[in-house]
Amino acid sequence: MSAIAIIYYSATGNVHRLAAAVGRGAQHAGAEIRLRKVSELAPEEAILANSAWAEHREATVDVPEASLEDLRWADGFAFGTPTRFGTPAAQLKQFIDTTSSLWGAGELAGKAATSFTSSRNAHGGQESTLLSLNNVFYHWGSVIVPPGYTHARVSASGGNPYGASWTSGGDSGPDAAALEAAEYQGYRLAQVAGALQTRRNRFSALEF
Ligand SMILES: Cc1cc2nc3c(=O)[nH]c(=O)nc-3n(C[C@H](O)[C@H](O)[C@H](O)COP(=O)(O)O)c2cc1C
Repeated sequence: MSAIAIIYYSATGNVHRLAAAVGRGAQHAGAEIRLRKVSELAPEEAILANSAWAEHREATVDVPEASLEDLRWADGFAFGTPTRFGTPAAQLKQFIDTTSSLWGAGELAGKAATSFTSSRNAHGGQESTLLSLNNVFYHWGSVIVPPGYTHARVSASGGNPYGASWTSGGDSGPDAAALEAAEYQGYRLAQVAGALQTRRNRFSALEF
């Protein structure tokens, strides 16, 4: 059984729902999961000025916050973020920027990694956000697991081979097709993480 950490930031809930779907998919593949939000960094007045933001914060108060231990524990991880000017949210990036010790110890190398996002507009930067997150995975030496076009659910949800993406314009939350694509992404991540699990230490540079 593989261990999958889903690490995400969500202000108004879209990415949170995708994250939960990724987790369901990983569980469907037999994985143990940890669903973790990252710490909020925004000022209180900004959150309170947006009722959807304040309500989502309240609704997810019981979701544990991500820690480095979650990444150490995991055989694979899925990172989710809203698109912010075509890049990941600062809250998620702040968490990523605390991982130097794990990176330095090679704890992230050889682990399966994937990413997902939500933006307001269909052409508002979903792919650039995912590619930006994937740059981190290159540095970690992780094994990037894109959905590609490996399942009909990808095309049914808009056809983003880089990762599950939801265009939130109407503020209705991810539709069934988007959630099903996210579930599939989690399933695929867990499958690949499981396949890598027993061999990961063999990828060590020490054995080269
Ligand atoms: C500061 C900021 C920057 C944003 N930048 C973009 C953007 O570049 N493209 C876009 O389509 N939407 C952009 N959005 C909208 C969010 O990506 C979108 O509402 C997303 O669905 C929010 O996800 P969440 O509900 O999980 O927080 C931005 C929102 C904020 C607050």
